[in-house]
Amino acid sequence: MSDKQLPLTFPRFDEREIELLRECLQSLWVTQGPMVEKFEHAVAELHQVRYARSTTSCTAALHLAMLALGVGPGDEVIVPAFTWITSANCAEYVGARAVFVDVDPFTFNLDIARVAAAITPRTRAIIAVHLFGLAADIDALRDVIGGRDIVIVEDAACALGTTLRGRPVGGLGDIGCFSFHPRKVVTTGEGGMVTTDDQVLAEAVGSYRNHGATGVDPDSPEAQGPWTMATFNRLGFNLRMSDIQAAVGLAQLEKFPTLLHERRARAMDYNARLAGCDGLQVPDHGPDAGHAYQSYVVRLTSADRATRNTVMTRLAAAGISTRPGTHAVPVLGYYRQRYGYSRNDFPTASTCEDTTITLPLFPGMTADDVERVSAAFLAAMCGGNRV
Ligand SMILES: Cc1ncc(COP(=O)(O)O)c(C=O)c1O
Repeated sequence: MSDKQLPLTFPRFDEREIELLRECLQSLWVTQGPMVEKFEHAVAELHQVRYARSTTSCTAALHLAMLALGVGPGDEVIVPAFTWITSANCAEYVGARAVFVDVDPFTFNLDIARVAAAITPRTRAIIAVHLFGLAADIDALRDVIGGRDIVIVEDAACALGTTLRGRPVGGLGDIGCFSFHPRKVVTTGEGGMVTTDDQVLAEAVGSYRNHGATGVDPDSPEAQGPWTMATFNRLGFNLRMSDIQAAVGLAQLEKFPTLLHERRARAMDYNARLAGCDGLQVPDHGPDAGHAYQSYVVRLTSADRATRNTVMTRLAAAGISTRPGTHAVPVLGYYRQRYGYSRNDFPTASTCEDTTITLPLFPGMTADDVERVSAAFLAAMCGGNRV
């Protein structure tokens, strides 16, 4: 069996990225131009939303979503306790409070029953994270919200291509936020996208990402002519994606169906080899789950953190790269110091942080590679380090 190093993941680039980059550079239009517009249209079409507004990262997208929704001081924003830190930070950026809710240990997404208990009169928004590419149950969240004035923000950083009951995410809540970081299936280096069907929100996002510009006042005596300037009625930022990034994104989207298909196929191979093993939970949610497998994350259900780390060390020795799933955010320094949280407040998130492992899943990975990782993984779990 090959002993080549197996990476966690990497992007796939080919001549098409270079071709579109050349086209972009030769056009001399490198920002606020046609590539950005095309990329936004392509994502809007893929996720079946009316509006898509590109930005510099998913973190920026989440921040813009908070600003556009008018979330601010005195507001509470419900966030899963097991996620990437920016799912929570976006609420704190605008002076609101991130209120953590523990997760379901099988889906790693919000535990819907606990969401109901966390809602207060101050709750303005719920950040529904589609973690690792599996959709959070937005329909169930809507039922829990009922008639209350609470918006759903989909943190779809990991969820390009993800569906929920056959519908693409990103347009299921009020506003969606995607990432194009290199660990995502489609990358623009750094980059993000806000998606929505709401014209007012789309306009606000477009304005906040562009210094707060709100277009030209049609009643101004200077409304027509070379002197015309935008008005700035909001305190905005420069969070715009460049056409150079969008050129890469467009080339990436052309191969996205293949990338997604390959990931799903390899994830099924993993599930077939690992499902049913004692002490191991695999992300097998059935064929209709719409999982995009941005990451393939397993959990050692009867291990502690030290044992998990030992398994990862053994895999590293076998030439296999792994990473923990993600963080129990409330116990990260900022939140622990600010709100005094401890591990016991979010036992499932803490357990998930301690016992999850992300296995390699990369473009061009073969069924043989999956077999090698699975064999090494099972050996490592059982105390061996030989594959
Ligand atoms: C769930 C989640 N939300 C938000 C982000 C932030 O994305 P970005 O790196 O594009 O800011 C990430 C990044 O990994 C993520 O996993």
